[in-house]
Amino acid sequence: MLHALAHIEYGAIDLAFDMIGRFGQGAPRNFVDDWIKVGADEALHFALLMRRLHALGSGYGELPAHDGLWEAAEATADDRLARLAIVPMILEARGLDVTPLTVSRFESAGDITSARILDRIYHDEISHVATGVRWFEHFCRDQRFDPVPQWRSLVQRHFKGSLKPPFNDSARNAAGLTTDFYITLAANG
Ligand SMILES: [Fe+2]
Ligand SMILES: [Fe+2]
Repeated sequence: MLHALAHIEYGAIDLAFDMIGRFGQGAPRNFVDDWIKVGADEALHFALLMRRLHALGSGYGELPAHDGLWEAAEATADDRLARLAIVPMILEARGLDVTPLTVSRFESAGDITSARILDRIYHDEISHVATGVRWFEHFCRDQRFDPVPQWRSLVQRHFKGSLKPPFNDSARNAAGLTTDFYITLAANG
């Protein structure tokens, strides 16, 4: 679990800086600043998990890992709105849904150190989803798109997976990702 999470954070570092390198041109200065902050958080998350893996006698690269995050990046390489719709607003939001359960699993296994690391990550990730929602809505306004239907059509076009409940509605809502975005899509599978 710790190795899988470290791999996700490693991918998240790349994704944050890819957002800047690929989509930062002509964007407001705050866009770049915000994703640098996200990238710095992801680097810290990766470092915390790597340190924990080392403390347990393992390390990053000791186990196989899947490439789902980067596949999502490739699928949205030409479209800034689609990248924002999928990476922070689906994949990072999914992290908010599953992390509380993972924290309690570490707690019941007696690994309080790992539980604390994940709890720290969880709170940072709420702000990453919020950053994604804020910029998605900003660029929608620029192009006179209605954010919710625009999000749905981008997700249907660019996202292969399905939106799986249960959703952590309170954490999603704290990030500005309100249920009107995702409820209908989830219900339609
Ligand atoms: Fe992270
Ligand atoms: Fe993140």
